[in-house]
Amino acid sequence: MAPTAYVQPIVDSTSVFKEDLFKGKVLFCTGGGSGICRGMTEAMMRHGANATIVGRKIERLQQTAKELSAATGQECLPAQADVRQPASLKEAVAKTIEKFGRIDFVICGAAGNFLAPISGLSENAFKTVLEIDTMGTYNTIKATIQHVRASKGAYIHVSATFHHNGTPYQAHVSAAKAGVDALSAVLAVEEGPHGVRSNVIAPGPIDGTEGMDRLAPKGIDTAQLHGGYPVGRQGDIKDIANATVFLFSNAASYITGQVLPVDGGSEHLRHQFMPYPQMVLDPKSLSHMIKARM
Ligand code: COA
Repeated sequence: MAPTAYVQPIVDSTSVFKEDLFKGKVLFCTGGGSGICRGMTEAMMRHGANATIVGRKIERLQQTAKELSAATGQECLPAQADVRQPASLKEAVAKTIEKFGRIDFVICGAAGNFLAPISGLSENAFKTVLEIDTMGTYNTIKATIQHVRASKGAYIHVSATFHHNGTPYQAHVSAAKAGVDALSAVLAVEEGPHGVRSNVIAPGPIDGTEGMDRLAPKGIDTAQLHGGYPVGRQGDIKDIANATVFLFSNAASYITGQVLPVDGGSEHLRHQFMPYPQMVLDPKSLSHMIKARM
């Protein structure tokens, strides 16, 4: 029989960290209405934090807030804002202060992505992703920093691993996330003396997310895909949530200005999920697998 790889288990944060770790603390999370950022928020709430979730679609935020409160017993405030509009973010912050009186932790998570080669990216398409990811992070920091300083709190920015090497069809996101990583490093240095920490989580491919739906090639044997991870499986939202709880906890009080890839070690394999160079030489031949404008 062929030898098989060990598969690392998916664990709940509550099985590792104290349940009341963040009692009395408040999280402000952009992009918290769904996906990875929703999972990060849920984990923080499961450990006692109240939270504001920010996004463009109020109905989705309201539904998520209701579900998160029911699941955790903590309060969750849905606040509509577009991270590209500083005034709307400031309003969301004001609502948070009015309701909870403080902000301890901020997750800059709102992001936009799609597959497109540089030749298929309009100037506006490139700019739009930079505005959401990079400008959106800057705007969120500006809107929250005075409160995070006051509470001696911390930031986590959700980045990616695409820009750690040259990932085809991800020029816009690579440029945007490199900017996010740089912003976080400067924030750590400028705000460290004020008691604020700032780190980046760079998720690899995470199961069941909009990102995977938009980016992952279709029609590929997932077992084969999973075999491409040193830990034996693709990422789960709980993997990102656990890293979040750790980085916001006092156990990480000496960690700031860092980028933490949470990707099962996959970036060290540097494999492409799509055949290379076929994907750039003849993208139409892969149109059954990917949704991208050429
Ligand atoms: N390929 C190439 N260009 C694309 C594109 C694609 N798949 N999708 C959108 N664009 C272009 C648009 O054509 C437009 O450019 P144009 O004016 O030159 O035509 C530009 O990007 C802006 O698109 P628009 O739909 O007006 O922007 P938006 O603000 O409504 O949406 C996006 C922003 C495009 C990032 C959208 O995908 C989004 O809202 N994403 C959020 C969720 C998400 O991406 N989650 C995954 C995170 S990993």
